[in-house]
Parts: sequence; C-alpha cells; structure tokens
Amino acid sequence: MNKHRFAILANEDKKNTAKWTRACERFNQNYIIIDMIDDNWIDNIHNYQPECCLIMPSVNLSYYKKMYDEKLYILSEVLNYFIYPSYVECIIYENKRLLSYYLKAHKIPHPKTYVFYDREKAQIFAANTKYPIVGKMNLGSSGAGIDILDNRNSVNNYIKKAFSKKGLKRRFGPNKKVGNPKQWTKKALRSPQFFINKIKSYIKDYNNNQKHFVIFQEYIPHEYEWRAVKIDGSFFAHKKLKVGNKASGTKEKIYDNPPLTLLNFARQLCEKYNYTSMSMDIFEDQEGNYLVNELQTIFGQSDKFQMLVDREPGRYVFQDGDWIFEKGYFNRNECFDLRLQHAINILEGNR
Ligand SMILES: Nc1ncnc2c1ncn2[C@@H]1O[C@H](COP(=O)(O)OP(=O)(O)O)[C@@H](O)[C@H]1O
Ligand SMILES: [Mg+2]
Repeated sequence: MNKHRFAILANEDKKNTAKWTRACERFNQNYIIIDMIDDNWIDNIHNYQPECCLIMPSVNLSYYKKMYDEKLYILSEVLNYFIYPSYVECIIYENKRLLSYYLKAHKIPHPKTYVFYDREKAQIFAANTKYPIVGKMNLGSSGAGIDILDNRNSVNNYIKKAFSKKGLKRRFGPNKKVGNPKQWTKKALRSPQFFINKIKSYIKDYNNNQKHFVIFQEYIPHEYEWRAVKIDGSFFAHKKLKVGNKASGTKEKIYDNPPLTLLNFARQLCEKYNYTSMSMDIFEDQEGNYLVNELQTIFGQSDKFQMLVDREPGRYVFQDGDWIFEKGYFNRNECFDLRLQHAINILEGNR
C-alpha cells in the first residue's frame, strides 16, 4: 500500500472527522482536514492537491448540509477531484425530498412519496388519501422528523404548521428510545460541559425548522426494516426492529441470517448505481416486495458487527456468481477503515 494524500472535508461538527483521521493514521496515509465552512476552502484544497477527498457531511442543520452539497458539486463536477463516497451518494444522503425524486426517476421500488410546495394541493391530497400516511421532514434521523398521521384532521394541522411562520420542527431533546432521564442526569453530572453543548445542539436542531413544503409517504405496515450495507466488496445485513411506530433510532436489532434475495437486491442496486459505501434501509411489503426507504452513505453503528450468520460475525462477498460468507469483524472504526481501504484500492487501480 502506497502513501496517498487525503483531504478530509469537515462540516460544522469537527469531531465527526475523527473516524477518518483514525483510519488514515492506521493505514499510514497523509491527510489534512479542510474546514468546508471556511471561506478559503477551495484555495486550501488546491494548495494540498489531494488524490482523494473524504467526505463527512452534516446531518443536523439543513443550511450546513446545503452548503456542503454545493461545495462538493464544485469539487466533484467542476474541478474533477476524486470524492469518496461520491458526490451523488452525498447529495441524496439526508435529503428525503431529493431521495424520493431520485428513487422515482430510477424506478427503484420505494414507498410512494408526495412532495407539495403548494398548500392547497397538499390539502386536496389530504382529503383524498388513505390513512394512515407518513409525514417526513426532509432532514432528520432516528425518527426525529417522522410523523405517522392517522386522519385528515392531523394531516391538515401538519400542513397548516408547515406553511406557517413557525414551520415544522423535529423532536426536541434526546431520543427517549435509547436512554432515560436517570442516565442523562448521570451523564450531565459527570461532564457539565458535554451537557451544556448537548442542550445547545438540541436548541439549534429544534430551531432548524422546515417551511414551505411537505413530504408525505404511503404507510407501509412493517415489524422491522432490513439494514443492508455495502462497502467495497463487503456486504452485510441485519434487521432493525420497530419500537412504538418506528424502526429508526431504537438500537433494537435482530441478527437473523439475511436472505440471499435481499443481498441480491442490495447488490444489484449498488452495481447499477455505482455506490461505494451505502446503507440501504428496506421494507418488505405485504406481497414480499422490497421497498427502499432510505439510502445513507454514512451511517451510525452501535454494535461491533453489522451482521451475524448462524451467530458468527462476518461479511458476505459475491464471487463468481456465489455469495461467500467470511467470518470476522470487518467494521472496525464504524466501517471507516473499510471505506478508506476501498478509496485506496480505487487509487491504486484495484477496483
Ligand atoms: N412509509 C412508511 N410507512 C410506515 N412506517 C414508516 C414509513 N417511513 C418511515 N416509517 C417508520 O419511521 C421510521 C423512521 O423513518 P425514516 O424514513 O427511516 O426516517 P429516519 O431518517 O428518521 O430514520 C422508520 O424506521 C419506520 O419504522
Ligand atoms: Mg431511517
């Protein structure tokens, strides 16, 4: 493995770059961190001449996400820098509105989605749709911007809010599915600064409201979502279990053996659309069809592995027309080691 020059593109949360820097150090690579918020971002990149830019887009505030996507457009599409994961993978990430256009345009099976910028058209839709229906905020994870709307009245209220001065807001405060007030108090007492920063970020998130449009989606009954993951030639899958009415942000997982039909569905998507690093959240509808709910190039990971097959951690690789299971832990450093290895493979012409 040669030494390459990597630029890690940081957004507003600089701590997020730690996984990339750890991977670069582990693989003995040269790197710098570029602050994408900085006005000198292009000059800083030109001065360093990276062979590859490693992305770490933001997931919290829509204005930083927009800024990041725009600048990435310049780097990737205008200046032809090699971006890992790719520009397209980044722009469809954490943008449920754009993702819905993308899935529809490519005829990728997904829950039917409606985006209204016109309040009256949204109301006409509310009068004629089947219930429940899902209201989705454009940016948000762990179910924080998702509302299951049971009747016309609640949809009309939702529309009213979305087109008001105040707009739609995400859930305020910590995720109640993965903690409780006792644990939070303990954490706060242990580190008051951490606590203050958390409160500040909750307020910022909460104030990052969404106005002037709504996203509705047909309701797909489910008990779990499949989370299929692909990085380079490695494939994984597990089930994310529903708690309450959401299978997101619960950390409740079931490590059943994934069916090969699911792995094939994921592999075909990744091959067709050249995904480098992708997690695919997939519903199975009542007829057994797979429907893509989310595509996320960067994703969190709470366990040491992404998949167990017969209770063994490992990965699947597709070789000569067959799925081969390899035992082991392939997700060190929340998959960033696997990602960096992939970027190096591409640079060295191995992919
Ligand atoms: N169309 C849908 N029908 C039924 N439930 C849904 C639908 N879309 C999302 N959900 C539920 O809400 C959860 C969160 O929605 P998701 O679109 O994945 O947003 P997030 O980015 O918050 O994870 C999902 O895990 C799923 O359980
Ligand atoms: Mg989700």
